Amino acid sequence: MPGQSTDSSLISLLAEYGKERENLIPLLQEVQERFQFLSPEAVRAVADHLDLSENDVYGVATFYAQFRFVPPGLHHIKVCEGTACHVRGSDHILEAVERSIGIKPGQTSEDGSYSLERVACFGSCALAPVVVVDDKVHGRMTGNKTQKLIEEEE
Ligand code: FES
Repeated sequence: MPGQSTDSSLISLLAEYGKERENLIPLLQEVQERFQFLSPEAVRAVADHLDLSENDVYGVATFYAQFRFVPPGLHHIKVCEGTACHVRGSDHILEAVERSIGIKPGQTSEDGSYSLERVACFGSCALAPVVVVDDKVHGRMTGNKTQKLIEEEE
């Protein structure tokens, strides 16, 4: 279970990595992939493993938009902000999503229904602008279409 410093899968994951500082990002990525977010306990365990302070780890992790510090919502919405999507209006999509759910990227709604993430590129640029909801890719999106999609999930 995420959030427990004694979690055995976290301990075995850490054991796969050497204690070199360059392992920090790959380790954080794998922790997040496995537990879906970086809990305070996971950050502490990573810091201990690499002999860094928790502040060092947070300093690096908060620099990258890919890392989450709260559990994802029931529905996880990713808005692509890569170049192809950006030039086709992904900013408007992001604003529409923020307005309709009331959260910013990296946050989860209070009722736990939605979380929002900004992503660099999904590799589906031909479909730009792209929104991914619960791992399903939606191409050629607009703010309105995305809002409707969210309403359908409710
Ligand atoms: S830039 Fe959005 S999918 Fe590539």
